[in-house]
Amino acid sequence: NLSGLDLRAEIDRLRKDRNAVILAHYYQKPEIQDLADFVGDSLELSRKAADTDADVIAFCGVKFMAETAKILSPEKIVVLPDMDAGCSLEDSCPPEQFKRFRAEHPDHIALTYINCSAAVKALSDIIVTSSSAETIISQIPESQPIIFGPDRHLGGYLNRKFGREMLLWPGVCIVHEAFSETELLKLKAQHPEAPVAAHPECPPHIIDHADYVGSTSGILQFAKNFPGDTLIVATEPHIIHQMEKALPEKTFIGAPGADGNCNCNICPYMALNTMEKLYLALRDLQPRIEMDEELRLAARKSLDRMLEMAS
Ligand code: 13P
Ligand code: SF4
Repeated sequence: NLSGLDLRAEIDRLRKDRNAVILAHYYQKPEIQDLADFVGDSLELSRKAADTDADVIAFCGVKFMAETAKILSPEKIVVLPDMDAGCSLEDSCPPEQFKRFRAEHPDHIALTYINCSAAVKALSDIIVTSSSAETIISQIPESQPIIFGPDRHLGGYLNRKFGREMLLWPGVCIVHEAFSETELLKLKAQHPEAPVAAHPECPPHIIDHADYVGSTSGILQFAKNFPGDTLIVATEPHIIHQMEKALPEKTFIGAPGADGNCNCNICPYMALNTMEKLYLALRDLQPRIEMDEELRLAARKSLDRMLEMAS
């Protein structure tokens, strides 16, 4: 029974005792973001995981992110507060099917979104995140055919922006897929001056209304610099916590789903991590990410390509 515990104080104590670093994604609950040593987007979190001198990484995000930390820092203990924190994009792309897709297109390279399993990373040539995808794609010769998975919306956005014809795996993020164009247009009519910032995991009917498209850290940067008072945010709404902290005088409105509010756009996987589970993960050093060394080395190649090409 954890009810009598001061979780914040206990997590602080364990973080020191264990020489642990707590990394959190922007989609985590505010109380987790507030106690993390570092909050960032997928690329920034990967870099932090690769560079840290802590003995333990407590990864408050989803499983593919914690796996990435383990791939880059194999000597560390990596704990994920809830091992069921998956991702609909990862689920959409079973490695055996992805392998077949690759085999059907032998002249194509596989450019793959980081939101996938280690096994799919091992079958890929270059990994991208939403903040590194544009830099990386612009370094690949136009004559080089590409398959892109698992997010067809990010892939479609890149195809349109760079005039490419990448073959797309049909995965989607269930969170970004849930924004409603009709409700967004109603919200825009109520706030005609407010720009819209959208994540590239959104479908094209949402992207078409966006003034800015970028990763979570890109959206946060945009929020810090736009000249108006109100911003409509078309990504997982927990990121608004950072915006409100940085700019308390401005108004940030989460883009709505079909029910007219932004609560249906909370990522159910990210939401599985809680303060209680983080405390237990640091106390017990479980649940822990473990990975077969051959798989880790194979997945590392495509991640290293990303880190080289993104810098
Ligand atoms: P970024 O933080 O890289 O923008 O990714 C968003 C996301 O959906 C992570 O699951
Ligand atoms: Fe996956 Fe979407 Fe959740 Fe990100 S927001 S972890 S892409 S389901």
